[in-house]
Order: sequence, then C-alpha cells, then structure tokens
Amino acid sequence: MSSASPKSGLETPEPMQADHINEEFAWEVEAGLTASPKRLSSKYFYDSKGSALFAQIMDLPEYYLTDAELEILKEQSPAIMDRLGIYRETPFELVELGAGDGVKTIELLKHLEAGDYRYRYVPIDISQQALNQLEKNIRAALPNKQIQPKKGDYFKKLGELSDSDTPKVVLFLGSNLGNMKDDRAHGFIKSLADNLAPGDKLLLGTDLMKDASIVLPAYNDSQGVTRDFNLNLLERINRELGADFDLDAFTHAPEYDEKEGITKSYLRSEKDQEVSIRAIGKTIPFQRHEKIHTEISRKYNDAILEDICRGTGMKVIGKFTDHRDYFADYVLEKA
Ligand SMILES: C[S@@+](CC[C@H](N)C(=O)[O-])C[C@H]1O[C@@H](n2cnc3c(N)ncnc32)[C@H](O)[C@@H]1O
Repeated sequence: MSSASPKSGLETPEPMQADHINEEFAWEVEAGLTASPKRLSSKYFYDSKGSALFAQIMDLPEYYLTDAELEILKEQSPAIMDRLGIYRETPFELVELGAGDGVKTIELLKHLEAGDYRYRYVPIDISQQALNQLEKNIRAALPNKQIQPKKGDYFKKLGELSDSDTPKVVLFLGSNLGNMKDDRAHGFIKSLADNLAPGDKLLLGTDLMKDASIVLPAYNDSQGVTRDFNLNLLERINRELGADFDLDAFTHAPEYDEKEGITKSYLRSEKDQEVSIRAIGKTIPFQRHEKIHTEISRKYNDAILEDICRGTGMKVIGKFTDHRDYFADYVLEKA
C-alpha cells in the first residue's frame, strides 16, 4: 500500500494544503465514499491518464460502440444533415457536448467542409487533454478548419447555448447520455431543450439493447484496459487528494442485466481495509467484497428513449443505425 500517512484504526489522516486541492472533487469523493452504497462520479475518470485510456478503449476490438457510430457518420452524414434540416446556405452552430477526441465527429465535419456549409464548431469537454487531442485530430484531417473549443462541465455550459440566436445542432455522441440514470437523462434533455430555440436539433448517439455476450466484453476487455480505466479513478484520488488506495486490493467488476439494459461498473474491495484520504481528513472503511459504484451505461430502444424525452420539449424525428443495429444516432427536435 502506498501509505501517504500512517494509519491505525479510523484515526484522522494528516490534512493536505488547501490550495492544492480540487475542492469539488474532494467534496464529491467525500459524499460518495461516506454514502451507502458507496459511489464515485464517472466524470472524474477523465484526467489526462483517464482520457488516454479512454482513447485506447475506443480502439479495442470488444468496444463495438466506436466502430458502429463511426460507420453511421461515415456513411450517412448527408442523410443526417437532411434530417437535421440544415442546408448549405443555413448558418448554424454545431455544439458538441463531451466531444472527446472528435474522431467520429470528424466524419461529419468532412461532409460539411466538402459541402461548404456555413457553421461554427464548438466542442465542449471537461478534459483539457481530450480537447488538445481533438484539436490535433482536426488539424490533421481538416487543416483549414477553425474551431472554438470550450473547457468545462457541460451541465454548467448549457446556459451559454441561448447566448446567440443562430440555429443550433447539438451533438451528444458516444452514448454519453447512457452514463446518466433515466431521471437524470430526462432532466438533462429538459435543461438542454430549455436553452434551445424551437427548431434547434440534437443528434444523440445511443447504444442499443442487445445480448450480454456482446455488451459485457466492451466493459471488461481481454487486455484489461477497461479495468485500468476504472482503477485510475482510485489512482487519481491517491494523486490529487492524498489518499492511499492499494490498487491491488480492488478489482474491476462490471455487471450487465439484459432485461434492465444497464451495464454497471464497480470497484470491489477484495479484503476488509481502511483507506485514508488527506484532502478530506477522513479514513474510509471497506468490507471484503464491498463495491464502489463508478458508472452506469444504459442501453436504449425507441420506447425507452421516448419515455425519457416525454415532457422535455424534445421530440424524436429521425433514427440512423449501423448495419448490425448495435447503435443508433437519433435526431431530436425542440418543439
Ligand atoms: C465516453 S467519452 C465520449 C467522447 C465522444 N463524445 C465520443 O463519442 O467518442 C466522454 C467524454 O465526455 C467528457 N465528459 C464527461 N463528463 C463530462 C462533463 N460533465 N462535462 C463535459 N465533458 C464531460 C469526457 O472528458 C470525455 O471526453
């Protein structure tokens, strides 16, 4: 165990210097690890190591989501733009929430550039590393394209959407919505709608419900990259909040219930142990086999999505799927 401070029982760890702490991260970790059952927010996966690991996940043979959505955007961008009701002469803003490295979006941008569409591309991401990689990828694929990246939490950036009257197309790809429970997803789509004007659109990437034998390996790959991605959350708490998680004493334990259609990722304590976290001045006890819930990934069908959208002001008006029907990009319109 990498001990930052000596421990005995539940004694209070030595505090850290306040000016070195990401307060919001510390607060959320404290709330999550003192709750029952324990949980950590998936948004903290994406520090620079986590973003690099996620880029590796997208390349894994088991992670079918990337190939499926890439295929949709490569092959169906002209039809998607038609359904979005955007034509060459229509100036619009293309705002992408949780843009990541932009590899899939570039396929849509290539179509827009070739067709001389008049638009501003505004990718938003909480991770600077992801935005740096996205800029690099866009420079390589489309050297003349200027973009306006914004770093920040998309929950907090939704209000900025109503700053201009230009028609908007919001991209929310990669089944990012699936990381929210249905009631939160409903609230998120509603806040998005509240900040859009009638006729604005959302292109929403969603992973579709399917057999566990296809879904589960995407969250538990044979090379252990998804394991490292999940465990990096504990490593990040060690690095940034002065904790002493023993990474060998926790395992990556994803589950998928086919009926419910939700993958759940956990970190499971393999023994009775205590972990001290200096930034919050607490020692957290773990029982053998106690789990920390770190992420959900919801799988969708038309009925589930329509239920989530009911009463939000957004209506499904189109659907594009890959050839295996693994993934769908839905088009939604603000009424
Ligand atoms: C699952 S990746 C998907 C990336 C990309 N949309 C794609 O489909 O490949 C999630 C991305 O969203 C970003 N992200 C996660 N939570 C966020 C939040 N609350 N605000 C802004 N970005 C966030 C992460 O940094 C990461 O780049």
